[in-house]
Amino acid sequence: MQRWGLHKSIWTQDLRKKNYETLRQNLNVDTVIVGAGITGLLTGILLRDAGKRVAIVTDGEVGHGVTGNSAGHLTQVLDYEFRDLVSRFGEEKIKDVVAACGNAINFVEKLATAKKIECGFTRTPGFKFTESKDDLQNLVEEVELAQRFGMSASQLLNNPLSFLVAGIIRFENQAMFDPLSFVLNLAESFVGEGGLLFENSRVLKVEDDSTPRVHTKFGSVSAQEIVLATHTPIGVYLSLHTRVAPYFSYVMGVRLKRAPAQGLFWDTSKPYFYLRPVKTGTDIWIIGGRDHKTGQEIKTYERYLEVEEYIHQHFDVSEILFYWGNEVFESVDGLPYIGKIPFTKNIFTGTGYSGTGLTFGVLAGRIISDLILGEKNESAEIFDPSRVKAVASASSFLKENMNVAKWYVSDRLSHHEIGEIKLIAPNEGRVIDVGEKKVAIYRTENGRIHALSSTCTHMGGTVHWNSAEKSWDCPCHGGRFRATGEAFEGPPLGDLADVKLYTEENPDAADTITEATPGFSPMPEQLLDI
Ligand SMILES: Cc1cc2nc3c(=O)[nH]c(=O)nc-3n(C[C@H](O)[C@H](O)[C@H](O)COP(=O)(O)OP(=O)(O)OC[C@H]3O[C@@H](n4cnc5c(N)ncnc54)[C@H](O)[C@@H]3O)c2cc1C
Ligand code: FES
Repeated sequence: MQRWGLHKSIWTQDLRKKNYETLRQNLNVDTVIVGAGITGLLTGILLRDAGKRVAIVTDGEVGHGVTGNSAGHLTQVLDYEFRDLVSRFGEEKIKDVVAACGNAINFVEKLATAKKIECGFTRTPGFKFTESKDDLQNLVEEVELAQRFGMSASQLLNNPLSFLVAGIIRFENQAMFDPLSFVLNLAESFVGEGGLLFENSRVLKVEDDSTPRVHTKFGSVSAQEIVLATHTPIGVYLSLHTRVAPYFSYVMGVRLKRAPAQGLFWDTSKPYFYLRPVKTGTDIWIIGGRDHKTGQEIKTYERYLEVEEYIHQHFDVSEILFYWGNEVFESVDGLPYIGKIPFTKNIFTGTGYSGTGLTFGVLAGRIISDLILGEKNESAEIFDPSRVKAVASASSFLKENMNVAKWYVSDRLSHHEIGEIKLIAPNEGRVIDVGEKKVAIYRTENGRIHALSSTCTHMGGTVHWNSAEKSWDCPCHGGRFRATGEAFEGPPLGDLADVKLYTEENPDAADTITEATPGFSPMPEQLLDI
């Protein structure tokens, strides 16, 4: 098992997958959807069912964004505590949100049955527990509110876990599934019903004028509407990017010697741990947590070690089988933004789902397709991206954006020596100062140096090395780039620019530096035009 690097989730094992061609032509359809995760596929299926001509264009393969890297819980119990949400939006609205999430889960069940999708959809209770007596009152309030929202929820005297807790509550009728199988089957169904689907087709440009259009390297698709189902919208949309914050979460697949009773479990710690069996009756469990803001943790592998330590403290473990991680986007007021992007003519999106984005992705598919079809959707208003919750979200808005400002500023202030290059081990990276520029340097497995601009192509943040995932991550809005600079996640459209470095002695061989070289310097005219 490879311990660090871009990991593959448990769902990618035993994968039965069809391949779809790359976009190599110019097309015109009714709606073009960018991204083939749960949001894109659901929107596509629903629009296709309504008779629209739809094309889905995705980077990489179907489901291999965050959807296929999730834990597969389907819950109505949101990441934010109910009482916090009620204090921001009022009880009636949150009651509606919880009902809409319940309907989204019912919809997955209905769709899986109607389309005969084998994705392990199983109804199961959800349990929220605490190991701290200080949180007991919060659990009591959570149950009371859930009951007022019409959920079947109770405090438990019997603990289904295999370790001691201070308190635990139970929510009936939640669900779990294999999210990757679900979206792969949706993709087959979408194509079978006449939808167009293109894989390995990264969108590089989005045009929102009288002819909305998306462009990839080898083709383009024009349409009446564009749906950016890319988890956070690609491109620059200040109204949204300043209101969602990227966090990174860590997960493991573990074989347990003594598994708890079946269910979805999560605790009250911040950030919380989450656990579930991979399927009914198995001793393999998915356990995750230790989230942190993207790009703001240097030794990211230590987070995996902390999840591992938690697992060993709480369970009798046979073996750890899988490691993987990915991003979640949290909105400043606790609810996602779903609908038309403010100040655009024809662009829709769904983002800010937090850790319950499988339920919200389904909900987004229903809301966006209804908006495009001109149908009434009861939930559209509360999730509308242009909603104004200035009072409720002002403090979080300020906190998240002051945090971004800190990263812009402190990067300009810190200084690294050029000689640091020699300290970079194979398959590691580091941002160093070269003259007045910051250069992101990655040393390949075979010792060669790959030098890149450290300036994020989205809005100019400085990328940071993620040692566990071997990627360059931007702390500002969650943009991520491969070690060799290709954009693969978050809002950036372009790759990190290559930087040419040379030494006095050997102008062509800077990429072979293995130790500090006195005459090493950047070639000014070729070094970044930031
Ligand atoms: C570790 C982890 C565990 C989680 N567990 C749960 C859970 O148990 N339950 C739950 O409800 N939620 C969970 N979530 C959250 C949930 O997985 C996500 O919110 C949800 O999957 C997002 O779906 P999406 O379709 O919007 O995005 P994605 O699944 O990320 O799909 C976006 C697609 O857009 C494509 N794309 C991006 N940029 C471009 C471009 N420029 N051109 C073309 N295509 C592009 C990507 O390749 C990808 O296919 C978890 C998240 C993480 C990180
Ligand atoms: S992701 Fe926005 S500046 Fe990098």
